[in-house]
Amino acid sequence: MPFQWSADGCVGQHVHTPPPKVSAGCRRKSAVDTVQNPGRARFLRQTLALVGATAFGRNASSQEPERRPAMNLRTIRSTGQILPVIGCGTWVGFDVAEGTLEFDALREVVRTLLAGGGTVLDSSPMYGRSEATAGRILADRPGKAVVATKVWTSGREAGIRQMEKSIELLGKVDLMQVHNLLDWKTHLPTLRQWKAEGRIRYIGVSHYTPGAYLELEAVLRAETLDFVQVNYALDDREAENRILPLAADRGIAVLVNRPFGGGGLLKRLGNRPLPDWARNVGVTSWSQLLLKFVLSHPAVTCAIPGTGNPRHMAENVEAGTGTLPDSGFWKARIDGILG
Ligand SMILES: NC(=O)c1ccc[n+]([C@@H]2O[C@H](COP(=O)([O-])OP(=O)(O)OC[C@H]3O[C@@H](n4cnc5c(N)ncnc54)[C@H](OP(=O)(O)O)[C@@H]3O)[C@@H](O)[C@H]2O)c1
Repeated sequence: MPFQWSADGCVGQHVHTPPPKVSAGCRRKSAVDTVQNPGRARFLRQTLALVGATAFGRNASSQEPERRPAMNLRTIRSTGQILPVIGCGTWVGFDVAEGTLEFDALREVVRTLLAGGGTVLDSSPMYGRSEATAGRILADRPGKAVVATKVWTSGREAGIRQMEKSIELLGKVDLMQVHNLLDWKTHLPTLRQWKAEGRIRYIGVSHYTPGAYLELEAVLRAETLDFVQVNYALDDREAENRILPLAADRGIAVLVNRPFGGGGLLKRLGNRPLPDWARNVGVTSWSQLLLKFVLSHPAVTCAIPGTGNPRHMAENVEAGTGTLPDSGFWKARIDGILG
């Protein structure tokens, strides 16, 4: 199947090209049954009503498009394509059953991402029903998202079967990553072949923990890759030492996973007031502050905070707009923030 690239959200906005130098995974939460959890169901109903009125570039009374600042864009160095800086992760949040309120909320999450100028949706066969959910939702919006997923198994044939299933579920895959470097030596030749055949556009590898950085670094040095996906957050900055500079040096685009430390960092900060300088950098919530921090690194191409909540998605896309403080600004404040 020939690759199709969507140009959505990719014109007339700010493009930032980084200078040339510079298993968590296995936790699983089953879908919350709304009958078993009426409080959550009520919350989702309220959220959907609120988001329906305000979050999709519409003024509820006039139906006129709302003026919203354009999302910042960055360049994928291997092709020169540009990418909006905020995407959405699907781990846990998208592992829900169709026909539930949670599933309806995810339609709104995706709508909010796209309406806010974002495009990247990241999944994996590791994430239960997430690929199927994302695929069902994206079927109504063909070509609008940049779809990233992963191969997460051992062996060539098993990898091929899994990736074919992912494409079937998702409709298309733009970026195929080797999840947590699992059997990467076997999978990368297949990924390269698929890229040459136009079945996928980009190839990459992912990991989520500094314990894997030695191997990750070796792979980034030895292989020609379009993307690396790695963890990076205000309290999780090991990637700054070697991985991010190396990616910049090698022209590899960076997707940032776990920008909220899997949610733990947000919980830790959540009850504190925002610093008084937050508004000066266009930040009105802790989630936006944490995303602005991540995006301030020049090697970062796109952050993919995971959410199943449309209000959170709306907040997250806002963080992709406006100016970004430089590293000196953050250096002077990180200790104060983490306290
Ligand atoms: N090895 C790998 O390849 C790897 C490993 C980890 C993650 N990933 C990818 O990276 C994505 C992001 O990582 P993650 O989901 O583990 O962690 P994360 O993005 O750091 O945090 C997700 C958590 O933050 C909450 N959240 C999101 N936006 C929020 C907001 N505006 N306000 C308050 N809470 C908010 C979410 O809850 P709600 O749903 O309630 O918003 C969820 O509990 C994953 O979804 C996955 O696609 C890949």
